[in-house]
Amino acid sequence: MSVATATKPVTTRDLRARKGGEPIVCLTAYTAPMARLLDNEVDLLLVGDSLGMVVYGLPTTIGVTLEMMIAHGAAVARAAKHACVVVDLPFGAYQESPEQAFRNAARVMMETGCAAVKLEGGTEMAETVRFLVERGVPVMAHVGLTPQAVHALGGFVSQGKTEAEAEKILADARAVAEAGAFSVVVEGVQEALARRITEALSVPTVGIGASPACDGQVLVVDDMLGLFSDFKPKFVKRYAELAPQVAEAVRTYAAEVRSRAFPAPEHCFGVKR
Ligand code: KIV
Repeated sequence: MSVATATKPVTTRDLRARKGGEPIVCLTAYTAPMARLLDNEVDLLLVGDSLGMVVYGLPTTIGVTLEMMIAHGAAVARAAKHACVVVDLPFGAYQESPEQAFRNAARVMMETGCAAVKLEGGTEMAETVRFLVERGVPVMAHVGLTPQAVHALGGFVSQGKTEAEAEKILADARAVAEAGAFSVVVEGVQEALARRITEALSVPTVGIGASPACDGQVLVVDDMLGLFSDFKPKFVKRYAELAPQVAEAVRTYAAEVRSRAFPAPEHCFGVKR
């Protein structure tokens, strides 16, 4: 039986054990209703800091606060009965020191009820990953195109194109995995590099824009449902086009309100039908 159809909650240990096996299915979720819709179909619900762009209309993830992550993390964790819930630590909440990272990760876990946190970075974050894991905080790492470093990377552009850059990303992935991360998100790299990383690590890789060579896949749910249409990265597949359906429904509602066709008798109290 696939983990996604089982009824018991998926743990970080279950996900860790999926290395090289059935691919891990992950989507982002930011709200309780969406988490309820996705929960039985996926293994992992990621409360990504992409919510800054998708929900709050920010230009990057850099303005996302710990309070935003906690509010959305708590909503998703309350709704999820099956999938493992992982919450992103936002920019500025963990880079200063392992102690700062632990303080904020503990708040996120205590106030949301999530199973793990995710943080971006490689070799430079390995000490922090180890510090958190040794103190009971499961960590998902994130290497390659790390959106919180968008200004340092020169935009949302694929990474690891030269051999030196590819070696650096491979070393980053090894460092965070050896430090105890239970899984590593690999974003925005070519298939050959994703394969090298996946083969090198003893923990599962979860790819986004990183080819099928990874041990699992993640997408931003609003992207794959066609709800977020500001831009469409090359790696996104639209499994639905919901934005036009929403627009059409709202157009019909507006017309019916203006013509007084809505509300009809069946929507009114005290009116015999
Ligand atoms: O913030 C996010 O949603 C993410 C995933 C897209 C990997 O980090």
